[in-house]
Amino acid sequence: MANDLLRGKKGIIFGALDQNSIAWKVAEKAHAEGAQFVLTNAPVALRMGELNKLAEATNSEVIPADATSMEDLENLFTKSMEILGGPVDFVLHSIGMSPNVRKNRHYTDLNYDFFHKTLDISAMSFHRVLQTAMKLDAVKEWGSVLALTYIAAQRAFPDYNDMSDAKALLESITRTFGYQYGAKKNVRINTISQSPTPTTAGTGVKGFDAFMKYADEMSPLGNASAEDCANYCISMFSDLTKMVTMQNLFHDGGFSFTGVSEAVMAKFEQE
Ligand SMILES: NC(=O)c1ccc[n+]([C@@H]2O[C@H](COP(=O)([O-])OP(=O)(O)OC[C@H]3O[C@@H](n4cnc5c(N)ncnc54)[C@H](O)[C@@H]3O)[C@@H](O)[C@H]2O)c1
Repeated sequence: MANDLLRGKKGIIFGALDQNSIAWKVAEKAHAEGAQFVLTNAPVALRMGELNKLAEATNSEVIPADATSMEDLENLFTKSMEILGGPVDFVLHSIGMSPNVRKNRHYTDLNYDFFHKTLDISAMSFHRVLQTAMKLDAVKEWGSVLALTYIAAQRAFPDYNDMSDAKALLESITRTFGYQYGAKKNVRINTISQSPTPTTAGTGVKGFDAFMKYADEMSPLGNASAEDCANYCISMFSDLTKMVTMQNLFHDGGFSFTGVSEAVMAKFEQE
C-alpha cells in the first residue's frame, strides 16, 4: 500500500544486516514509496553478502563504511552524492553494538576498552555522521535524519547493560546537533524509541525472549514490529512531519507510559 510519500527523495540507509534488520524493512518501504538511496554497512557485515540481495531488489548501490571511521564516512557521503546526483533528503542511522553485551560482561564489571567501542559504534557514530554531512553539505534543506534508540536511555533495564548509556548519549546528540543543524539548514534530527524487536542486535541482549513477552503484555497495543517501525520512519522522512525535530519519539505500543497492565497484574494475582 504505497502512497508515493517519498517520490523523488534520496537517502542513505545504514545498518541493514539481514531480512530481520529494521533498516532492511525501511529500505524496502522507502523503495516502495518512490525513494532512491544508497545502502551502507560496516565492511565486516558486507562479507555476509546478504545486503547485495536488498540492493538488487531496491535498485540501489552499496558503499561500505565503518561508522566509526571519518575517512569511510567522508567517502560514503561524497560517493552517495555522486550516485544520487546531489545532497540527500534523508539518512537512517540504524547501528548498535556492544562488545560487553557480546562477551557477557556484567554492567558492574565492564571492560572499558569495550565500553569505548560501545559508545563509539552506537552513539558517537551519529555525531560523526552528522558532522560529516554538515561539512560536506550533504543533506538538503528540510532533510530528515533518524536514529533508532531504546527506552533503557530513560529507565533502568539491567540486561541492556552499557547500551543504556550509549542510547542516552545518542539521544543527547540528537537534541544538541538537532539544534545546530536546524538553525543552520532546517535539517531535522530525531530518534525513534522502538519496542524490543527480534533482530541480530536485539536477540543478543540476555533474556531477550522473556523480555519481549513482558513488553508485549505491558503495552496496550502490544509490541511494535520492525515493519511498523519502518512505516514510522517513512512518515518521518516525508514532508508530512516537517516541523518535528530534536525529539525522542516512542514507538512502542504505549509501553513507555504504562505503569502496569491488567495482563501483567493477572500474573501476580495467580500467586
Ligand atoms: N532490536 C531491538 O530490540 C531494538 C529496539 C530498539 C532499538 N533498536 C536499535 O535499532 C538499531 C538497528 O538494530 P536492529 O535491531 O535492526 O539489529 P541489526 O543487528 O539488524 O542492526 C544493527 C546494525 O549495526 C551495524 N553495525 C555494527 N557496527 C557497525 C559499524 N562499526 N559501522 C556501521 N554499522 C555497524 C550492523 O552491521 C548491523 O547492520 C540499533 O540502533 C538498535 O540498537 C533495536
